[in-house]
Amino acid sequence: MPLPPQSDPAAPVLILAAHPDLAHSRVTRALLSAVHGQPHVRVRDLYALYPDYSIDVHAEKEALRAAKLLVWLHPMHWYGMPALMKLWVDEVLSVGFAYGSSGHALHGKDLWLVMSTGGSQHAYSPEGYNHHPVEEFLLPYAQTAALCGMRFVPPLLLHSAQKASDEEIQAHARRFVEGLTEVPHWCDLQPEPAQEEVPNEDRPASQEGVPV
Ligand SMILES: Cc1cc2nc3c(=O)[nH]c(=O)nc-3n(C[C@H](O)[C@H](O)[C@H](O)COP(=O)(O)O)c2cc1C
Repeated sequence: MPLPPQSDPAAPVLILAAHPDLAHSRVTRALLSAVHGQPHVRVRDLYALYPDYSIDVHAEKEALRAAKLLVWLHPMHWYGMPALMKLWVDEVLSVGFAYGSSGHALHGKDLWLVMSTGGSQHAYSPEGYNHHPVEEFLLPYAQTAALCGMRFVPPLLLHSAQKASDEEIQAHARRFVEGLTEVPHWCDLQPEPAQEEVPNEDRPASQEGVPV
């Protein structure tokens, strides 16, 4: 059963949760339960909102406007984000809205990735079966944030998610709740992020002239 949406449109924290099988999740579900009812937090559960993958782009853009801190909460799937989260990025972060010469809707906001992995910390090391530190798999997130002029907050990760005990997951959920209070203060102390410019010829033609 999806958790009921929390929908204060003026909340400064917007959590976009993306788990294709939340009913069988331990980590993502625990984190969502931990923030339930927090007045400064708005949660949008993408798989509950869009089971047919038909994203209401206008509603998503509106939801972003009030948010100062945007949280992407999802399990790692094939070294990246679940499919609907990727579709959200493709469709919502359009030129003229999120990037490009007139696309500044996200400039100055903060992006916090909160992600769990099945692989252990050792698996994400040169000696492990994934051969690379997890940070290398997160470069597309960091650069997406940079292109949109968002500050990429150090991610909160839980490795070995399948093996984690209930106590470890609860401790992780507490770190998440604390982070939702601490991260905005940390961001206030950081320099204002710059927004990268994308040359016209590098932008997708299909998005030119799309109303924003
Ligand atoms: C389709 C799929 C792909 C996955 N890909 C990865 C992966 O690339 N790397 C990894 O460490 N774990 C991977 N996992 C494991 C999940 O990240 C892990 O089960 C999840 O973080 C646990 O969180 P949950 O309790 O919220 O489901 C994958 C799981 C599924 C179902």
